[in-house]
Parts: sequence; C-alpha cells; structure tokens
Amino acid sequence: MTAEETLAQIAKDVSVCTNCALHESRKKSVPGDGPADAEIMFIGEGPGFHENEQGRPFVGAAGKFLDQLLAQADLTRADVFIANVVKCRPPGNRDPLPEELSACDVHLEAQITAINPSIIVTLGRFSMNKFIPGAKISTIHGQMQKVGERFVIPMFHPAAALHQPPLKPSILADFAKLPDQLSEARAALGRKIKVKKKEAVVQQVEKPQQLSLF
Ligand code: URA
Repeated sequence: MTAEETLAQIAKDVSVCTNCALHESRKKSVPGDGPADAEIMFIGEGPGFHENEQGRPFVGAAGKFLDQLLAQADLTRADVFIANVVKCRPPGNRDPLPEELSACDVHLEAQITAINPSIIVTLGRFSMNKFIPGAKISTIHGQMQKVGERFVIPMFHPAAALHQPPLKPSILADFAKLPDQLSEARAALGRKIKVKKKEAVVQQVEKPQQLSLF
C-alpha cells in the first residue's frame, strides 16, 4: 500500500471506529487532512462543532487563525498534514478523557508511521503530553526537540491564543521560526527539500486563465 492508500484506509477505519464512547455522539469523524508526504504534521486536540459537521480538521475560528499562522511560516494547508489526538468530537468541546486518548492513539500512530514527518508540531497540552509527558508548554513552546526518529515542536493551541490575547505574539513568533527549524530538521535527518505543493496549485490555476485569452 502507498502512504496515500494507508491514510485513506485509516480514514475509513476511523469513520466506523467504536473504540471509545465518542462514536455515539459524533456526526462526522475527523481523521485529518493533508498530503501523505508532508514534512510537517500538526496535531491538535479534537474536533469542535464545525469539524464534527464537516469532517475536516480546524475549520472553525481556531482553524482560520491556524491558516494565518501557517502563512507566517510561508506554509499553506497543501504543505502540511493536520490531525488531532482524538478523531471524534468530545461533547460540548470538553477535554478528551484518558481512555479516549488511548483508544484513539492507534489511528494517530498509524498516521504518523504512514506520513513519517520530519517535524511534528503539537498544538496544545494533550498533543504535547503524548510526545513530551509532563512538560510545561509555557516554558518549552517553540523549542524543537528530538523525540525518537523525528523532531517535535510544542506550540500553544491556536484557540488558547484566541482566548488569551497575550499569548498571540508568542504563537506568531513560534510559527515564524518554523522554516529555519525545518531546514535544521532536514539536515539532521539527512532529508532533501521537497517541492512546495503551493507552487503546483498556482500553476494549475494560471493555465485556464491563459486559455481564456484566446
Ligand atoms: N481544535 C482542535 O484541536 N482541532 C480541531 O480540529 C479544531 C479545533
């Protein structure tokens, strides 16, 4: 199976998953989105109201802010894979329970193995705790560290920065460091630079415009 096929299979598995009680109240599961060969994988907490409606990650207010943050790092959604530690919405947007996190971990681990990203950016404490247990986000945010065979950068959750405006400059500064951190991670892991997906999209958009001149 290719990585794309594996990710499609994981999404299918997630859509019928009954590993925890969250499946009882889900409208749509939210497996995650992005290219199978993404160099950077973002891992948030769990679907909220809008994600549960649409089946896609970060499509609400926090998602709009995440798009701005990606732009700060000269990235778009076409460049990165975005997932969550739990794939179904915790009712009322409550925190995911330990049993829900462990029940869903099999899907997240399968995604990480398929994508094999150079960098995992954790968004919020649940995601950070998976990779760096017991860490304090306020002291280590934005600092890249080696965890196993890849790098992990803990960042504040975009929703936290929306609710606590004093965090906004920190999260913007952390995202601005990402391009240099990616170069550093590539060098340390001996990986080559990938052609940006964004450029491919621009070329596709330009073609029909040229044709319409005739
Ligand atoms: N917050 C998250 O952590 N994940 C989403 O997909 C949306 C909001």
